[in-house]
Formats: sequence, C-alpha cells, structure tokens
Amino acid sequence: MSRMLVTGGAGFIGSNFVHHVVAHTDHHVTVLDALTYAGNLESLAGLPEDRVTFVKGDITDAALVDELFAAADSVVHYAAESHNDNSLHDPLPFLNTNIVGTYTLLEAARAHGTRYHHISTDEVYGDLELDDPARFTEDTPYNPSSPYSSTKAGSDLLVRAWVRSFGVQATISNCSNNYGPYQHVEKFIPRQITNVIRGIRPKLYGKGENVRDWIHADDHSSAVLTILDKGTIGETYLIGADGEKNNKDVVELILELMGEPRSAYDHVTDRTGHDLRYAIDSTKLRTELGWSPRYRDFEAGLAATIQWYRDNESWWAGAKDGVEAFYASKGQ
Ligand code: NAD
Ligand code: DAU
Repeated sequence: MSRMLVTGGAGFIGSNFVHHVVAHTDHHVTVLDALTYAGNLESLAGLPEDRVTFVKGDITDAALVDELFAAADSVVHYAAESHNDNSLHDPLPFLNTNIVGTYTLLEAARAHGTRYHHISTDEVYGDLELDDPARFTEDTPYNPSSPYSSTKAGSDLLVRAWVRSFGVQATISNCSNNYGPYQHVEKFIPRQITNVIRGIRPKLYGKGENVRDWIHADDHSSAVLTILDKGTIGETYLIGADGEKNNKDVVELILELMGEPRSAYDHVTDRTGHDLRYAIDSTKLRTELGWSPRYRDFEAGLAATIQWYRDNESWWAGAKDGVEAFYASKGQ
C-alpha cells in the first residue's frame, strides 16, 4: 500500500479524486484541506476510515506541510482558490494559496524527494476565438486573463523551475472544465441546477456564446492516476474529453432535463474579461499514456449530476443563499 497526500481533497475535484483512488487502488490517502468556504467534509463522508485520514490545515503552513510530506510516497496538489468571479472581487487569497501555497509544497517535495503531481487548468493558455479551429496543446504559450488563471499560471511556472533547478520529481496536468457531484453552487452548472430546484431562473452571462470544454470529474481523476503511474517527470499533460459546448446550450439542456421550458432563463451582466473559448487537444495523454475518458455522453452525465443535486440538497443548501446574494450585488 502506497501513502498518498492529496491537498484540497475536501473540494470538488479533490473529493472526487479521493473517492476514485479508494475505489480503484489500495493506496492510503491523507487529505490536507483548510476547509475554506469551498471545502466540505461531507464530500468525504462514507469513505473507509482505514483508507482515508483527514488533516485540517493550510498549504502555506510550512511546518505542517513538511511533516505530511515526510510521511507520503506521493502528493497530488488540488488545493486552490478556484473561482474566477471571486478573483475579480478579491485577488489576494489567490496569490497566497495558489502561489505561496504551491511554493511551500515544492520546497517540501525538494527536501523529501517526494513524487509530486500538480493540478492545473487550461485557463493558463488564455482563450481562443469561436471560429478558430485550433485547440490548446502542451506547446501553447501561456497567456492567462484573470487573477485566478494568472496565479495558476504562476504556480505552474514555479513547478517547472523547481524541476529544472532542483530536480523535483514533478508532473503537471492542465484540465478543462469539470462537472459532476460535489461541485460548489457558485460554479456555472450547479448554480443553474440549484436555481431551478429553488424556483429561481438560471443566469447566463452576456449572450452565452462562450464555449467551455466539459469533462466529468471522474475522468479527470482517472487521467491523474494514469499520469502518476506512467507519466514522465518534468512533463506536462493536457486533460480533456472533447466536450466543447457553449453556455447557452448548456443552460437550455439543464432546463429541458429538469422539465422546464428551454427559454426560462435570464441574461445577466457579463463577467469582466470573460474568456471566450477553451478547447483541449489531449492527444499526448491518449497516445503516450493510453488514457481515454469513460463519460462520453454529456447529456447522460449532466442528467446524473442533476439527480445528485436533487438527492443531496442538504449538501448544498447552506451555501446557496449567500452565493446568490453575492451574485445579485454584482447584477449577476
Ligand atoms: P474547489 O474550490 O472546489 O476546492 C478547493 C479546495 O481547496 C477546497 O476544499 C478548499 O478548502 C481547499 N483550499 C483552498 N485554499 C486552501 C489552503 N490555503 N490550504 C489548504 N486547502 C485549501 O476547487 P476545484 O474546482 O475542486 O479545483 C481543484 C483544483 O483543480 C484547482 O487547483 C483548480 O485550479 C483545478 N482545476 C479545476 C477545474 C474545474 O473545472 N473546477 C478544471 C481544471 C483544473
Ligand atoms: O477551464 C477550467 C476552469 O473551469 C477551472 O480552472 C476553474 O477553476 C473553474 O471554475 C472553471 O472556470 P470557469 O470560469 O470556466 O467556470 P464557471 O463555472 O465559473 O463558468 C463557466 C462558464 O459559465 C463561464 O463562461 C462563465 C459562465 N457563467 C458562470 C456562472 C457562475 C454564466 O453564464 N452564469 C453563471 O451564473
């Protein structure tokens, strides 16, 4: 049994990863999570106690991080401030967690020689035009747009520097937009699903032409395990499942799947600096490491996600009113 440390394991993608690791490996997982507004211990409920240990703490706490790295064979780093709209309102926590936090982990990886996998985003590449046939590859130049994506880009560059300068045993993955269970209601898909459940009309930024490349969180998890298992140290792998859709189509599909008229939504104030389109070319991961996604039917995955939010209202209800009040204050 190998010992894996997962930062941010009480968040959306981190908790999906912990569930995936418990189901598909015999690793023991230690979760390090500060339980910010985005973390929820209920996302780890039901997992066997002999397989998962939870430690509440901050990734910028160097002494704690050092102690946990000393006891780990590998580390997967999900913890982050993750929401673009929050980063436009208050960027400082993004600098602390995403930059200083990653630095703190890299110093521990350097001291202990620990295998380290860094979770990042396609947003580091900026955006594409709607009519551009191009997709992002591992060679696309970095060009982030928001405080969030610029701090993720900065953290990726720290990893590359620590590999080259100090021989840290690291890999990086940049994934597209995830959907699935345990996603905070501030994000697009859960916000609209929970709006419909609450009788609130979904809110679409601007015209809704912006395109995101959707992947199920469980496919993200299988890709990360594949990279940990077979990836080459120092390499970056893009993770995506060919799921490009514009926001208008996604809102209309949510409404249809929830039995409402497809037109029953509002256009609201657009996001400042709103990236137009993301699209991932994951050829390297598929051909070199043999990974492929399991969730190929977005409509079926979305229907299952809607059912999860219907069945788990107690998981999200506490956050909903505050999130909607925040958006309302910005005309969104
Ligand atoms: P999330 O906001 O749902 O979860 C983040 C978790 O990190 C929370 O549990 C939070 O408590 C924890 N955390 C925050 N600051 C911390 C700190 N200083 N110390 C310890 N824990 C802290 O985020 P998510 O959507 O699950 O994203 C996870 C990672 O995946 C991030 O690195 C994000 O950049 C990346 N990513 C997300 C997506 C997506 O679609 N959501 C896509 C690609 C990459
Ligand atoms: O591409 C990967 C990124 O995907 C991750 O790095 C981020 O952590 C994650 O939050 C996500 O970023 P986005 O900004 O793309 O996700 P968000 O869910 O905030 O918005 C998705 C799209 O929907 C985006 O074009 C903005 C739009 N939107 C969002 C909200 C919350 C709306 O139209 N209405 C809304 O109410």
